[in-house]
Amino acid sequence: MTDAALATPETPLAREVKRRRTFAIISHPDAGKTTLTEKLLMFGGAIQLAGQVKAKGERRRTRSDWMAIERDRGISVVTSVMTFEYRDCVFNLLDTPGHEDFSEDTYRTLTAVDSAVMVIDAAKGIEARTRKLFEVCRLRDIPIVTFINKMDRESRDPFEILDEIETTLALDATPLTWPIGRGRDFAGTFELGSGRIRLVDGGDEAAGVGLEALGGLVSEHRLAEVTEELELAQGALKPFELASFREGHLTPVLFGSALRNFGVRDLLDALADLAPSPQGLDSDKRPVAAEEPRMTAFVFKVQANMDPNHRDRIAFVRLCSGKLTRGMKALQTRTSKTIGLHAPQFFFAQDRQLAEEAFAGDVVGIPNHGLLRIGDTLTDGENLSFLGVPSFAPEILRRVRLEDAMKAKKLKQALQEMAEEGVVQVFRPVDGSPALVGVVGPLQLDVMEGRLKAEYGLEVGFEQSQYSLARWVSAENKLDLAEFLNANRASTAEDLDGDPVLLTGSAFQMSRAQERWSKVKFTDVKDVR
Ligand code: G4P
Repeated sequence: MTDAALATPETPLAREVKRRRTFAIISHPDAGKTTLTEKLLMFGGAIQLAGQVKAKGERRRTRSDWMAIERDRGISVVTSVMTFEYRDCVFNLLDTPGHEDFSEDTYRTLTAVDSAVMVIDAAKGIEARTRKLFEVCRLRDIPIVTFINKMDRESRDPFEILDEIETTLALDATPLTWPIGRGRDFAGTFELGSGRIRLVDGGDEAAGVGLEALGGLVSEHRLAEVTEELELAQGALKPFELASFREGHLTPVLFGSALRNFGVRDLLDALADLAPSPQGLDSDKRPVAAEEPRMTAFVFKVQANMDPNHRDRIAFVRLCSGKLTRGMKALQTRTSKTIGLHAPQFFFAQDRQLAEEAFAGDVVGIPNHGLLRIGDTLTDGENLSFLGVPSFAPEILRRVRLEDAMKAKKLKQALQEMAEEGVVQVFRPVDGSPALVGVVGPLQLDVMEGRLKAEYGLEVGFEQSQYSLARWVSAENKLDLAEFLNANRASTAEDLDGDPVLLTGSAFQMSRAQERWSKVKFTDVKDVR
């Protein structure tokens, strides 16, 4: 393609792309992600009533009836997307499961965002899961906006929290707002750039500009305290730098209370003003610019039976460039098949709607019958593929015990389908012994058992196997790999894509194999292709 064929910033397409903000929320369970999501959606007009995201009522049930487990345990397993508009921006919020047993899903979802919001509980600071998810973001230098939540509760000193971000995450932290009091005395925030004051009970209207405006609104004591803190903050903390934020080295920090709906608008404004619009992405053939006219996209998530009335399978597709129009034909580059995009869908909280058109940065759901897999690239005809939707080595390996041996064929098909969805990984030993399933967390096994029963009528149990570790194996030289595989036939298996995996019973055995076969690479993460 020539440069002239690329859309210039003036084109309507480039304008559409520029107003997209595709992001996810990362946090430790209980920090307030669900509450914040609700409030964000309210601002965007996507939902009218707070409580719908978590509501256990009818609509919620429709969405994930097959996952009774999710309801029973009050955890969110489903990763989906919520689209809403605010100001002149279109926000795509990619939801991620809160429970760490489903972290693989979360990691994959993070490959499809341009920025992330890190929610921190003001009393707890950086917690384990936040740190882990942050590290995943750092792998791709995803810019992060930090929201210190629950300021209306007893909380830590703001300086201490900022310091913790800097030291534990090695990330510069620059407050954009400063809290006026905390806990029961949390009165509002002071915006450092503009001096604008917002009060918790003051709605969206600013209570004034400059600290003077606080006189009469808070006690003398509080005013003196905030004045001192602000002086200290302005003297000691790094000024905000857009480039540094965009490169993932600095996080702007906002204080608020999702529950009181305070600071949420500031957060949306920060995303609109500072967070990047969709950026270009490298493919195996060439760099792809987000605003170029040719459509490209990749599948980062497959979800079965979102709606029990239509036993469908939805592939969640992130558009990387150009425009998708309903009815267009797309090339699935893995198989060279052409797929008609007759019913691409947008998701608005609990609802979905047919998408007539979508632009780079948008996420659409494409109903299909098992054709689309995680990691697939779709284009408008060009033969290129995106890399980088990873698979992670499972932490738990089990054999599936089938109650009715006559149903072995059905089980094979079911496992294949679930592996394609990314629910489990399936490893087929090359010596022909029964397949093993691999998961990251034990809850995934429960989900699998439940779904095998509900959707395929299969009663299964799980058995320990002699294996506990799996690593993908590869080598620069094909002969080295062949020699290794020959020598280790009894403990190698193939994954869904036919790639070789070594299975061992312990970390010790794995490191012995590594020492012995120095020309073979053992990895615990694999790009899907
Ligand atoms: P999560 O999705 O990150 O797990 O957190 P979630 O929003 O479910 O919030 C966890 C708990 O923290 C909830 O209380 C929620 O109401 C509370 N919470 C969230 N944001 C704030 C805030 O800004 N201030 C205060 N004080 N509390 C907040 P819960 O009692 O566990 O659940 P619920 O019965 O209220 O739903």
